[in-house]
Amino acid sequence: MEIPADLGRVLVIIPTYNERDNIERITRRVRAAAPPVDVLVVDDASPDGTGDLADALAADDEQVKVLHRTGKNGLGTAYIAGFRWAAEHGYDVMVEMDADGSHQPEELPRLLAALEDADLVIGARWVPGGKVRNWPKSREVLSRGANTYTRMVLGVPLHDATGGYRAFRAATLEKLGLDGVDSRGYCFQIDLALRALRQGLKVVEVPITFVDRTHGSSKMSRDIVAEAMWRVTQWGMADRVGRLRSRR
Ligand code: GDD
Ligand code: MN
Repeated sequence: MEIPADLGRVLVIIPTYNERDNIERITRRVRAAAPPVDVLVVDDASPDGTGDLADALAADDEQVKVLHRTGKNGLGTAYIAGFRWAAEHGYDVMVEMDADGSHQPEELPRLLAALEDADLVIGARWVPGGKVRNWPKSREVLSRGANTYTRMVLGVPLHDATGGYRAFRAATLEKLGLDGVDSRGYCFQIDLALRALRQGLKVVEVPITFVDRTHGSSKMSRDIVAEAMWRVTQWGMADRVGRLRSRR
């Protein structure tokens, strides 16, 4: 499958924290699956040396770039830094992708094809045709539960609002008001999806096969889950108060 040329310049943003055993493989897979697409690694000073490895990859391939941050500051702020870099460098499409192989680069052309008729494309697990491979049952329960809760509390028509394999048009990101995003952890994904829907933008879910990592470890933590729960609850309450006010 070809990358649609009329989408313009595409950048895949890969946030990393201790992904030494993954960074080279994922970069190689993206470059092979989508040769016209550039890669930006956003590394938070990984103690395991991921940032140095990324620099070495960038030295060998001018389509690979690295943004170094000073410390672990959360997935949400890493992506916002990446989006800013991409806008400054004239990219038309920004893609989010995990470093650990869970988001298969070979599925990227399909996500980009769907973006031709959408403002935001979310690679989704919990839709017909979507799959997860090797994920512990506990993670599946957590992810499905988070998505059910999000749908109930926020009334969004999405099945994988937490999914982190996405393609945005640059124009979409401009409309989301990234300066006002406080989400630091994985609830950043829900935050942006909600903002896009509230702007009346077209958000499309495309089924993907999510494959659990075989190297390194997940950065999911109790704090990240807690942040997501209270923020979603807060957004839902603000929504309800707003609707009650407008009825009066
Ligand atoms: N720069 C940076 N800073 N990168 C980070 C940070 C951070 O603070 N925290 C995590 N990352 C990177 C990881 O190195 C990896 O490349 C990616 O973000 C995803 O992190 P994982 O730790 O592998 O996430 P997961 O597999 O537990 O969670 C998956 O599911 C979530 C919920 O559906 C991911 O796909 C998330 O994107 C998704 O929100
Ligand atoms: Mn992962």
